[in-house]
Amino acid sequence: MKNQQRETFSSGLAVFFATLGSAVGLGNIWKFPYMIGANGGAAFLLIYFLCVLFVGLPIMVSEFYIGRKTRKNVIGAMKQLKPNSAWKSIGVFGIITAYLIMFFYTCVAGWVYFYVFKAIKGDFSGVTVESSKAMFGAAVVGPISPIIWQIIVLTVVSAILIMGVQKGIEKVTKTLMPVLFLLIIICDIRALMLPGSSEGLKFLFKVDFSMLTKQSILMALGLAFFKLSLGMGTMVTYGSYFTKDNNLINTSVKVALSDTLVSVLAGIAIFPAVFAFNMKPGAGPGLLFMTIPLVFSKIPFGNILLVLFFILTSIAATTAMMSILEVLIAYFTEEKGLSRKKAVIFNAIFIAVIGVLASLSADSSSILGNIKIFGKGFFDLFDFVSSNILMPIGGLLIAVFMGYMVKKDEIRHELSNHGTLNIDWAINLYYFILRYIAPVLLIIVFLNSIGILKF
Ligand code: PHE
Repeated sequence: MKNQQRETFSSGLAVFFATLGSAVGLGNIWKFPYMIGANGGAAFLLIYFLCVLFVGLPIMVSEFYIGRKTRKNVIGAMKQLKPNSAWKSIGVFGIITAYLIMFFYTCVAGWVYFYVFKAIKGDFSGVTVESSKAMFGAAVVGPISPIIWQIIVLTVVSAILIMGVQKGIEKVTKTLMPVLFLLIIICDIRALMLPGSSEGLKFLFKVDFSMLTKQSILMALGLAFFKLSLGMGTMVTYGSYFTKDNNLINTSVKVALSDTLVSVLAGIAIFPAVFAFNMKPGAGPGLLFMTIPLVFSKIPFGNILLVLFFILTSIAATTAMMSILEVLIAYFTEEKGLSRKKAVIFNAIFIAVIGVLASLSADSSSILGNIKIFGKGFFDLFDFVSSNILMPIGGLLIAVFMGYMVKKDEIRHELSNHGTLNIDWAINLYYFILRYIAPVLLIIVFLNSIGILKF
């Protein structure tokens, strides 16, 4: 009975934008473009595509399968597919991972929101290397302001999710994803008009296989995973809202390609400007929060650009967080019988309370910056355990489950939409990669990320 009232997205386009909204996140704006540049440009892109093909896509299709076939949250789905079995742990890991990611992601998103506000106020006019550093330090160390911005972020995400799947997630992603594209393209055009922009393009697009190391291959693999929101039930949950005529393989390919396009476009917006002003392209949040204001403040109309840039980053972060929180909301409404509103409020408060630990430990001079668990502060621990341990384990379990526990006929039936799609070759290819390639690669990544296997 309950399943009949379950919402779905209203169209294929809605499915696409919601899923892309999950994939596109903070990773596209600083992490991916930087990795492209630092690992041999187009050579890294090629490796990334192979990782998407051999690991990302098979896991994404599998998650969509689990979600749409059962029309349930990640724990409910596993319970339905294999009642009373340990496979439920895929769901349990997913829920834990969703919390861990939310604890630190809301904190970083809080800094982004704060930077939108600061850019609008004009705080960055005349900024220097020192003042830019100092501003970022103050924004991170706080202690009050990062917590307040983290709560604002959670309030925005909660308000959208309370509206529901169609009126909340669908409406917001359908409106904001095109806006995000438009904003990136505006930033790109401006960046390309800068004198000396070709150096930045060279950084991004040179093909240099000699810069590829084993480490960069592993990085590409891990990135493909985090970028496409895999291994923790997000795509199971969104898949459970997909329309019944959606071509799951096709959607996966389109989302992976569009997500990569966003990363490349973000790189084009960033690096020409960074090089035009003779700055070093740094990795991590430093690039986003310290370098970008500095670079854009030197461009005519740079402040408007800065506002647009941080708005687009906050859109990316917000739509990604919606998909993580929705994993929890679907679980609490369906398995625990909470109303949607109660589930959202309860989870938002819980995430805010524990998330404070991330906000107060993000920097070594933060109030809790010196507390270490297994040698890591809270912020780093949440990040490390979720991205390096739980997501690859989740992905591996999903690959093994789908490849060895589900009958191929059932898979064929669902992926071909009950025989209405004539895509046997794609299903066969998917099944082969899923069984023989993805699990092996995932084991290697996992052992490496926890330090057992050293390259
Ligand atoms: N894909 C998002 C990003 O690139 C992060 C994310 C991970 C979202 C896991 C949902 C689930 O930032």
